[in-house]
Amino acid sequence: MSINFKELANKYQTPYYVYDFDHITKQYEELKGAFKARKSLVAYAVKANSNLSVIKHLAQLGAGADCVSIGEVKRALKVGIAPYKIIFSGVGKIDSEIKEALELDILMINVESDAELNRVEIIAAELGKVARISIRVNPNIDPQTHPYISTGLHENKFGVDIDTAKRMYIQCKNSPSLDPVGMHCHIGSQLTQLQPIKESVKIVADLVRNLKAIKIELSFMDIGGGLGIVYKDEVLIDTKEYAQSVLDNMFGLDITIICEPGRFLVGNCGTFVTKVLYEKINGNKRFIIVDGAMNDLIRPSLYNAYHKIEVLNDNQEFSDCNLVGPVCESGDFFAKNVELPKTEHNDLVAIYSAGAYGFTMASNYNTRGRVAEIAIENGNDRLIRKRETFEDIIALEEEFIK
Ligand code: LLP
Repeated sequence: MSINFKELANKYQTPYYVYDFDHITKQYEELKGAFKARKSLVAYAVKANSNLSVIKHLAQLGAGADCVSIGEVKRALKVGIAPYKIIFSGVGKIDSEIKEALELDILMINVESDAELNRVEIIAAELGKVARISIRVNPNIDPQTHPYISTGLHENKFGVDIDTAKRMYIQCKNSPSLDPVGMHCHIGSQLTQLQPIKESVKIVADLVRNLKAIKIELSFMDIGGGLGIVYKDEVLIDTKEYAQSVLDNMFGLDITIICEPGRFLVGNCGTFVTKVLYEKINGNKRFIIVDGAMNDLIRPSLYNAYHKIEVLNDNQEFSDCNLVGPVCESGDFFAKNVELPKTEHNDLVAIYSAGAYGFTMASNYNTRGRVAEIAIENGNDRLIRKRETFEDIIALEEEFIK
């Protein structure tokens, strides 16, 4: 669907994020459909885009939620995701978060170390509860993605090795406060190769079978998220093949498959729209300076990530330039050495595929308010988060000025 960025800019000012909710629906249905032969749950990785309206849209489609803080758990509950569809993951859960998760009676806690398992056991015993546990297995597989978003190697901080996992499952079985219900494995993000996923699913499926042999029967296999999207010209994993390779490995096991995609569901639904402030030439280097910056969309600065960029004017005079924001850092750029047309003050620039890890990674650096978020559904636009004002930014400090 084509979105009228200009109209939205007039109505809501710039910069803004706009999300096409119909695209989210399409992505959700595709993935859910791929697993249709099996009991399955698509648990949306809330960290990718935590706007309440985005989560609510997915909730209404039937999605669960994969959360990495109690704040995310509460967001999911707030928009109507049932506790039995919510998973709490993360390498460093705080005691108070574990306590709250147990009190809220969510589906399961994904435990990432034996030290954490001990904490959960103690807290559950104190509350007189039985904690439903899944253990994150680190299969030591290279997912072939950016090192910052690779998580499935022993050199990464995530999960535990197979032997540790086995011991932890036995600890769960022997504890009156722990109930081992699931297994979890997530090897990385923006994955475009099926082979590493296949290998890791095989490793965890074998472990599920081993556990079964010692009477530890799991009900949930959480295969993580990580499915890549097109930013430039990536060849993607076919979702049917992906699902089939998981299902093949689970043959004969009575287990519900959970997957926890973030980027796949929301990445391509979003566009970041910013407007040109100035052009300038330093020596012979051309810069286009826009009103959005690294604090709004940090992926290019942080990962050198590529986002397709389009200047929304009719000028055909293209030349090499850097597209940069107003923040006081040389790392504040959206693209370097790209061919873009000559621009005028107020021309709009669309930065595509910004629906995942865009707004959620935004900050108030340089005392810049976080931008407005807009949803488009059935051709209609609506504001889903107000632009932050100066007053919003200072609200938690003001009373302490001496
Ligand atoms: N499950 C777990 C345990 C995760 O750690 C992640 C992402 C996901 C699911 C969702 O992964 P996805 O389906 O979105 O690939 N900020 C980075 C991405 C960080 C991913 C962190 N974990 C970026 O902008 O590329």
